[in-house]
Amino acid sequence: MRKKITIVGAGQTGATLAHWLAQRGDTNIVLYDIVEGMPQGKALDLLEAMPIIGSDAHITGTNNWDETANSDIVVITSGLPRKPGMSRDDLLKVNGDIVASCTRNACEKSPNAILILLSNPLDAMCHVALHTSGFPPERVFGQAGILDTARFRAFLAMETGVSVNEVNAYVLGGHGDDMVPLLGSTNIGGVPVEKLIPADRLQAIVERTRKGGGEIVSLLKTGSAFYAPSAALAQMIDAVLNDRKRILPCAVYTGSNAGGYGVSSLYLGLPARIGAAGVEEIVSMDLTAGEQAALHSSAASVQSLVDALRSFDPPLIP
Ligand code: LAC
Repeated sequence: MRKKITIVGAGQTGATLAHWLAQRGDTNIVLYDIVEGMPQGKALDLLEAMPIIGSDAHITGTNNWDETANSDIVVITSGLPRKPGMSRDDLLKVNGDIVASCTRNACEKSPNAILILLSNPLDAMCHVALHTSGFPPERVFGQAGILDTARFRAFLAMETGVSVNEVNAYVLGGHGDDMVPLLGSTNIGGVPVEKLIPADRLQAIVERTRKGGGEIVSLLKTGSAFYAPSAALAQMIDAVLNDRKRILPCAVYTGSNAGGYGVSSLYLGLPARIGAAGVEEIVSMDLTAGEQAALHSSAASVQSLVDALRSFDPPLIP
C-alpha cells in the first residue's frame, strides 16, 4: 500500500517538498494549508505535471484536517519565515503557537505518524511538537543538519573545484548562527580539509555556512530558503520510507545523554540513524575538544529558547 505523507503548510518549502516527493511516484501526498484554494491549486498543478514526468504520485490539496488522516509521515513547515535582519529566534512565540496548533490537529488525525519539523527556530519547535503530540521522541525530529551540512559541502566544493560528492562533512549543533561544522572530520576525497584549504579561507567558509540561511533571506528580501531545506526533508522522508538506516544529521532528542555528547533532554543537531521507526539511534562521533566545547555552547543557546518557551503565558511546554 502507498505511504501517505502530509505536508502541513503549502508555502514555498511545503510545495517544493511536494515537488521533490512527487518525482518518486510511489506516494500519496497531501498538501494542507489554511489558505483556501491555494493547496488545492498547487496540488492540482503538480498532479497535472505527472504525465509529463511519468510519475504515478497521488497529490491532493486541502484545508480540512480530516483529509490528512492516517498519514505515515507528517511534515510541519508552517510558520513565518524570517525578514532581513531577523534571527530565527525572533520567531519563537509566533511560530510556537502555529506549530502547537498544527501538531495538535495533525496528530489527532494521524496518531501513529512520524512527525518531522521544519519551522523555525527549529530545535525549540521540536520541543513544542514533542510535548503537544505526546509521541515518543524517536517519532518527532527536525530537519536542519542536512541543510547546514549541504551548505558547508557546497561551499567547500566551490572552493576546491571538486564534485560535491567528494566532500564528506557534518555540521552539528542547533540550527542557529553558532552551529558547529566539524573541521576535524571533514575530508575531500579522504584528504583532511585542513590540509587542502588555508585556515583563513576555511574559517570564512565556516562563517558563511553559519550565516547561510541569513544570506538567502537578505537576497530574497521576502521569505527564506526553500529548495535546499525541502531537498533535505525529502532525503529524511526517503530514509524512513525505505528503512535506509542512513546516518543523517537531524535535530534529535538527546534524552539522558544519548550518543554521549554530554547534552541531556534537549533537541540538538546530531548524527542519527534514520529508518522506518524514525530516529533509531543517536550515533556517537569523536569530537575534538574545541568541537565539543562549541557543541555545548550551541546547546546552551537552544536551552535558552526552550526556557523561554516555558516562560510564556500560557507556557508552550511544561
Ligand atoms: C535556513 C532556514 C530555512 O536555514 O532556517 O535557510
